[in-house]
Amino acid sequence: IPIPVNYNRGDGKFNWKPVMSIGCTTGSGGKSSPSKLLSSWLMRRKPDAACQIGSKQSDIEFKFDEGLKEEAYRLDISKDKITITGNQSGWVRGAAALVMLLEDDGWAVCQIEDEPRFSWRGMHLDVCRHFFPIDRVKRLIDVMALHRMNTFHWHLTDDQGWRIAIDAFPKLAEVSAWRDRDGQPSGGCYSKQDVKDVLAYADERNIQVVPEIEMPGHARAALAAFPELSCNGGPFEVANTCGIFDDVYCAGKDATFEFLEKVLAEIVQLFPGPYLHVGGDECPKVRWKECPDCQGRMRKEGLKDENELQSWFITKMGKTLQLTGKHMVGWDEILEGGLPPSAVVMSWQGTQGGIEAARMGHDVIMSPTSHCYFDYRQSDEPEEPGNLGRIPLETVYGYEPVPSELDPLAASKIFGVQGNIWTERMPTWKLVEYMALPRLCALAEVAWSPASKKNWDCFQSRLTNHLS
Ligand code: ACM
Ligand code: ZN
Repeated sequence: IPIPVNYNRGDGKFNWKPVMSIGCTTGSGGKSSPSKLLSSWLMRRKPDAACQIGSKQSDIEFKFDEGLKEEAYRLDISKDKITITGNQSGWVRGAAALVMLLEDDGWAVCQIEDEPRFSWRGMHLDVCRHFFPIDRVKRLIDVMALHRMNTFHWHLTDDQGWRIAIDAFPKLAEVSAWRDRDGQPSGGCYSKQDVKDVLAYADERNIQVVPEIEMPGHARAALAAFPELSCNGGPFEVANTCGIFDDVYCAGKDATFEFLEKVLAEIVQLFPGPYLHVGGDECPKVRWKECPDCQGRMRKEGLKDENELQSWFITKMGKTLQLTGKHMVGWDEILEGGLPPSAVVMSWQGTQGGIEAARMGHDVIMSPTSHCYFDYRQSDEPEEPGNLGRIPLETVYGYEPVPSELDPLAASKIFGVQGNIWTERMPTWKLVEYMALPRLCALAEVAWSPASKKNWDCFQSRLTNHLS
């Protein structure tokens, strides 16, 4: 899991050796091979095992072939040697496939040729409703890498907490990162060193990290520290309950944009990837309707209503990001008005937003509440945790991200699929993993494998082995 594009099983086994040597004997294009990563994965699977990393006479060899596409790999398991061929990104995917194929008595002889269907195969994690330390975040990234997923969407700011230290605004870490729980402060904040640590860990697994800084809504935690960025001046507390809150960033005050631009400048510096998520979802307009500054902004910019003000806000931030060379990503509400052409739309309120955005020529990530929300319940059992609707494993597995009504050009704009873990009802990491798995396994196959290879019965039988 996920099932490869082409798989041929031969006769016999490559038997597990007490000491397995792993190496890279051909040119790597200057990149280091994932020998260490593979060895740590194998030793976790077989705790009594040992791996030796070297370049000569390896049992498992990484071979460089720059002719293969990004993330594509060939895996050849014969009786006496294993070869993983690709460029560096393909090596990591091939190594993950090799780990997944290991049976108790070794590897079956086989040949695989494989490449991903979608280029964005994502998982999102909300660390705002409940804060999780970086060793937990890394664990999710590792599980993703083993399933050949490649994009980690880190939801870092929301009403209930701001989770990333910003040098220009120390109060975000001191005030916005903490909510009151039964009289005790609860929360936390990542330092920049924490983030660098996660980025290095993700990079070793060829996973890009997309930070999300929410605007203009879901901003109560930031407003608790900086009430002057709201329409009515507050005061506010970091939100203590879930929900959608009326107090959002004021779109009329220049101070809002000075604040957000300084925050984004530090985020752009810290995160090397090409994408930055600005949220954009669920922004009530009641304060903007009553605010002289917001109303003044609408007159000055010739905006006819508050929806146009939201679109003006997002477009302004999109232009700022474009100057830094980053692509803006936003939830599908960002469609409510003009958008920079390089903006990527994440379709969550069903698939209609994704369909419209693809027809407009935007790149689209499909992540609808109907299939991709892993905070929804997995079954109807009374003790089943979770929110709202029900999304059993089979529903996730059956998801087809490309809507049939799109013509081929628009269909080509659907460039990814993503599962979301909103943690309002997940106070512990154990619950996060319970909700994420095995739905993540099913989504990985939706994201990686050709639609023609998908088969629910076959997936279920492979899952039996996979769970161990
Ligand atoms: C969302 O679930 N509010 C994007
Ligand atoms: Zn205002």
